[in-house]
Amino acid sequence: MKKLSFEVGILTIFGHLKDNYRGELKKNYLIVDKGYNSFPTNIPGTLYKKALQARKRLNEILSDIIRERKEQRLKKKDLSGCLLNSRDDKGEVLSDDKIADNIIGVLFAAQDTTASVMTWIVKYLHDNPKLLEAVKAEQKPIRKLNEEGNQHLSWTQTRNMPVTYKVILESLRMASIISFTFREAVADVEYKGYLIPKGWKVLPLFRNIHHSPEFFTDPQKFDPSRFEVAPKPNTFMPFGNGVHACPGNELAKLEMLVMTHHLVSKFRWEVIGP
Ligand code: HEM
Repeated sequence: MKKLSFEVGILTIFGHLKDNYRGELKKNYLIVDKGYNSFPTNIPGTLYKKALQARKRLNEILSDIIRERKEQRLKKKDLSGCLLNSRDDKGEVLSDDKIADNIIGVLFAAQDTTASVMTWIVKYLHDNPKLLEAVKAEQKPIRKLNEEGNQHLSWTQTRNMPVTYKVILESLRMASIISFTFREAVADVEYKGYLIPKGWKVLPLFRNIHHSPEFFTDPQKFDPSRFEVAPKPNTFMPFGNGVHACPGNELAKLEMLVMTHHLVSKFRWEVIGP
């Protein structure tokens, strides 16, 4: 799953990217990813040290790509093209370092999140055989039609997968893989008799909201049919809310629809081990 979401991330950011660049980005990003939660000892051989070195190499690779794209004046519509062409309030272009930082940030935001939810979907479908049958009943005719017409899955088809879509929404709710976010009170706020002073950090706990019986009946039950009725405003926020809400929201859901289509129409799977 991580491989898939990484490849989609790369495609979104760069469109077509030469194999050698893609390989080097992948190799070094993996090292950074491994060291991300490691103990910060800057000694040779540690995950942390390796991650710092790989992070530097990532900057170098990204600088090469950026330089090449600038020379070729590629005004692409992918994210790298947007970053290369964007200007700040003073009309200045972004520095190469800022572009590289943004690219690594987006890769990070796109990979583990989507891969985690896709992994949960595999488990939830496995644990709910009736639901799996319903999803198969939706996906298999699409596959058959496409095989007969020698076609790929189309955008229009992904817009018409109501059962699978609800499974995705329910997986996002149940797993709540981003369980909270940070915000800062920019002014004194009074909320239900409590004062949140200006400057205090606030942690909206999405997981608690998603698992509250006040908003979701029998919240521990995996029940996609609950999404036949839209949740109350601000009770379903797997992608956050407000100006910093996830810009990859629609892409992530599309990725999950496509993955589920191929999963249920081509494969069987079972849990092994204890
Ligand atoms: C299932 C997959 C995903 C989940 C659950 C998810 C969830 C989130 C959440 C909760 C936030 C924080 C919002 C906030 O603080 O209010 C966020 C931010 C962000 N996400 Fe995602 N995300 C997913 C996939 C993606 C993908 C595929 C991309 C890009 C291709 C992406 C790019 C970003 C970026 C750049 C931010 C930072 C936005 C900002 O600070 O303004 N995410 N995401």
